[in-house]
Amino acid sequence: METSQDRIIIFDTTLRDGEQAPGATLNVEEKLKIARALARLGVDIIEAGFPYASPGDFQAVQQVASVVGTEEGPTICGLARAIQKDIKTAAEALKPAAKKRIHTFLATSDIHLQYKLKKTRQEVLSIVPEMVAYAKSFVDDVEFSPEDAGRSDPEFLYQVLEAAIASGATTVNIPDTVGYTTPSEFGALIKGIKDNVPNIAQAIISVHGHDDLGLAVANFLEAVKNGARQLECTINGIGERAGNAALEELVMALHVRRQYFNPFLGRPPESVEPLTNIDIKQIYKTSRLVSNLTGMIVQPNKAIVGANAFAHESGIHQDGVLKNRLTYEIMDAQSIGLTENQIVLGKLSGRNAFRNRLKELGFELSDTELNKAFIRFKDVADKKKEITDWDIEAIVNDEIRQPPELFRLELVQVSCGDTSCPTATVTVRTPEGKELTDAAIGTGPVDAVYKAINRVVNVPNELIEFSVQSVTAGIDAIGEVTIRLCYENQVYSGHAANTDIIVASARAYLKALNRLYSALQTANTKETVVNS
Ligand code: KIV
Ligand code: ZN
Repeated sequence: METSQDRIIIFDTTLRDGEQAPGATLNVEEKLKIARALARLGVDIIEAGFPYASPGDFQAVQQVASVVGTEEGPTICGLARAIQKDIKTAAEALKPAAKKRIHTFLATSDIHLQYKLKKTRQEVLSIVPEMVAYAKSFVDDVEFSPEDAGRSDPEFLYQVLEAAIASGATTVNIPDTVGYTTPSEFGALIKGIKDNVPNIAQAIISVHGHDDLGLAVANFLEAVKNGARQLECTINGIGERAGNAALEELVMALHVRRQYFNPFLGRPPESVEPLTNIDIKQIYKTSRLVSNLTGMIVQPNKAIVGANAFAHESGIHQDGVLKNRLTYEIMDAQSIGLTENQIVLGKLSGRNAFRNRLKELGFELSDTELNKAFIRFKDVADKKKEITDWDIEAIVNDEIRQPPELFRLELVQVSCGDTSCPTATVTVRTPEGKELTDAAIGTGPVDAVYKAINRVVNVPNELIEFSVQSVTAGIDAIGEVTIRLCYENQVYSGHAANTDIIVASARAYLKALNRLYSALQTANTKETVVNS
């Protein structure tokens, strides 16, 4: 395995820690799509899941390992508690990958030892080397994480890390599990590890952190200055609670400020060599894909990938940017693949033009998928004169990148207005092939549609989020609707795009209901894995 210390290794955990975000649950197909996009983005390692957690997780890791884990592709990693059955299951799931890593972890903070694990420090000191060695019996590339390192006694941490490395850990990952540390503390923790763990030169120092205080990215950059060479992050910063460190923010900070960071990696400040292997032009597209598939909306003011990240509203700023972009812009929107909102296709564009544009945008569709997307494109082109790249992306994401339909919307009709009572009629095809029609009144047209759908589908749920965003400007813009609904503490999301937002709302709702319905049918909810 590469132990290069002069560049930063990007370890993406969108499919593992990112998927732990409430409602972000992905099926195997969706995980594969994200894994392919991550490989195109150029991440070094994909943490594809926690194989022991559920048969679904196992299957997803195995699929990612066989499809994306090629010789030229990224290393595929599986998470495992420091327990034999977890490690063995992870090794089994990772088998098809050309380059594989087992990531095993055990907490080291006194608070975790006392209340969660009910183990002594001495016990931890004996379990860690034993389990690292066990993982090493399956793969060469073993990562060990002392969970809650940010709140662990550094002296104890040094001993645990030394034991892990002595038993074969090639990466030691330092998690700020609860997002508690500040940048200077986290930097000092990494420096302490570098200075006090005798065999640290035999391993890569990695960092992992949560954003509970909004400090994860700042902590990581301080860690880089003090010797960390692997960053564990997720697309759009999704993840447990406030999320993980955002990949796009870390990569762009290291890119835009490389003159500042170069010396910490032993390079001359003026070196223009990229500090990571990431193809930054893929950032925007990957962000959109993850947002659409997980239903985790990117806030408009989010750094790098938010809708407003490159928008200038005030007159003074607009004037400055028109005179010279550098007055108010530290990076170019196109550098992250955010193409100008150019008009690329229209009603008369043929199938070949559509296929070529999809290729240029990086979509690889099967013939069936292309057919479906082309029909949708023609339908949108009938209603909307000019089709932009963003429209095409919305069409493809909507038509292709969605779970299989169990319930299918056949018709939606609403009547509303300031003097009438919002009323909706829907026809839904059931999984058994029956067409059922019902109607309802609501507080507004969308409410009426959802009530009518509920009458047909009859799956109890609570709507917890409904959002509409327009893909492009203009009255004929495509509207994207994202829905999150809740049933028995599990969140299910749905996403749909259409020039008619009532249709998009109905389809997004049915997609979320389909997810819920299929979870109820297969009872494929994750086994709650606790530390033992
Ligand atoms: O946050 C954390 O500590 C983790 C570990 C499993 C690395 O996700
Ligand atoms: Zn984590």
